[in-house]
Amino acid sequence: MKILITAGPTREPLDPVRYLTNRSSGKMGYALAEAAHDRGHEVTLISGPVSLPPPEGMIVVKVETARQMYEAVRSHLGGQDTAIFSAAVADYRPVAKAEQKIKKTGETLTLTLEKTEDILGSARSVFGFTGYLVGFAAETERLLEHAHDKLARKGCDLVIANDVSQAGIGFDSAENEVTLCLPDASPFPLPRQTKAALARELIAFITQQAALKKTL
Ligand code: PMT
Repeated sequence: MKILITAGPTREPLDPVRYLTNRSSGKMGYALAEAAHDRGHEVTLISGPVSLPPPEGMIVVKVETARQMYEAVRSHLGGQDTAIFSAAVADYRPVAKAEQKIKKTGETLTLTLEKTEDILGSARSVFGFTGYLVGFAAETERLLEHAHDKLARKGCDLVIANDVSQAGIGFDSAENEVTLCLPDASPFPLPRQTKAALARELIAFITQQAALKKTL
């Protein structure tokens, strides 16, 4: 199977020395890419800026911003059987990047932000992707409600709900604990475990489900 995976954060520049970002380390996405590769899949990893070594045996495309990740997904999604969007993409970016370093002049500073491209939301509607589509939902409240909303709105086959309010899991941790949300089944919780072990379990499940979808 050909699998595209997004991983890591994006950085949205404010000026030549500053950017808006989040706490994603890329560990979850890289673990998924390694697990998919170990299972014999052909992997394309689209990665935001992380300090992890690039995994071997797959195509790795490095990007910085949400717009660059959108363009990289657009050009690599054709021909993929499965796409897994685990990246923590910035939802907003500064409307303009200042040419020079912003100086400390007033007591407050107001930034004007605009929405970034919704990459997962574009997979079906803009890129015409018909394969098995997996999104994540990183939430701090009403986890399953938000996850099911994303499942329906973005045309996903599976949303992996990640409660990022809990210490020790989610962003920048060695372990994770998630719940699988499918269109016609009860939410299925997976126990807390290392991201490598969880990735193997997720890839086994996704491999089976994607093959099933192909036969229908
Ligand atoms: O990288 P780690 O430190 O290992 O942390 C792992 C993780 C917490 C980042 C990962 O498990 C996770 O939950 N990833 C999704 C993070 C996220 O931003 O979720 P969201 O609920 O804001 O976004 C929903 C989905 O839309 C995600 O699949 C996301 O990749 C995608 N998205 C979001 C915004 C956007 N502009 N484009 C997108 O494609």
